[in-house]
Amino acid sequence: MEEDLEEISGIGPATAKKLEEAGYKDPKSIATASVGDISAAADISEAKAKKIIEKAKEAADLGFESADLLMEKRKEVGRLTTGSQNFDKLLNGGLETQSITECFGAFGSGKSQIAMQLAVNVQLPVEQGGLDGNALIIDSEHTFRPERVVQMAKRYEGLDPQKVLKNITIARAYSSDDQMLMAEKAQELIGEKNIKLVIVDSLTSLFRAEYAGRGTLASRQQKLNRHLSTLHRLADLNNIVVYVTNQVMSKPDMFFGDPTQPIGGHILGHSATFRIYLRKSKAEKRIARLIDSPNLPEGEAVFKITSEGVVD
Ligand code: GTP
Ligand code: MG
Repeated sequence: MEEDLEEISGIGPATAKKLEEAGYKDPKSIATASVGDISAAADISEAKAKKIIEKAKEAADLGFESADLLMEKRKEVGRLTTGSQNFDKLLNGGLETQSITECFGAFGSGKSQIAMQLAVNVQLPVEQGGLDGNALIIDSEHTFRPERVVQMAKRYEGLDPQKVLKNITIARAYSSDDQMLMAEKAQELIGEKNIKLVIVDSLTSLFRAEYAGRGTLASRQQKLNRHLSTLHRLADLNNIVVYVTNQVMSKPDMFFGDPTQPIGGHILGHSATFRIYLRKSKAEKRIARLIDSPNLPEGEAVFKITSEGVVD
């Protein structure tokens, strides 16, 4: 970080060290600080502080991108099959890389079944709807079942169930802090283990449990937003799929408006790129409704959860 700061011309090593100790760890933090703060923190004249801030503004990477570069990046977007053609069609070919896809729905609606199926499917070659990579599951509800994964892998001739299990890394989170830290540390693992899919199942349950009954939801929301922005960054920087689940209670007596009521209020808002509402129909039948997407029409797809996994 000190080297980062030193790259802003006008900051020598001693000044960089003082600034860093005062909490100014990157150009952005200096660019948005006041002249008085910087001069006090680094023990330098106001004139010099002013110059440093100007340089920092030039050096700060604020994420401006031209649309044609973005278009180039969009060309790299890969798609991961759900296992059901109907479901894939709803998503224009499957879950997109560089995005977060959220499934929300009542208990038993299939959120975790889809998670396990995706962890298998990501290992398929690209021609078969996979991403030729491995999966990382941040499991906060401890509902991951290796036996179920083996069952789901058996339908694909090219996959060896034992290898499929080896290629799935499980991280068990016991608190929302665990969960956040695991996402932050995932970056290293992603390169090391060729991870193309990061799952957080469930995204919200630990946050809900820990903040239940507390007066203010603002700090929970803030933490969750930070967590989501970590996940967005993982998806974006590594061109991978991020899949998250969110339990909501269904209100079958409501015929108008939003038929769902998230437990503990709307804490996700619109931070996932694709939001899918899942509901249980008769027996194995499930209905997925695409609620929110930047580039796809809303619509519904019918699929099933059987002993084989997610199918048409
Ligand atoms: P919560 O985590 O409780 O919010 O629910 P969820 O949405 O994650 O539900 P999950 O994905 O765990 O779905 C569980 C349901 O999948 C069960 O109630 C069954 O209906 C179905 N299911 C699970 N395993 C099998 C199986 O081996 N065969 C069949 N036919 N269905 C299964
Ligand atoms: Mg579940």
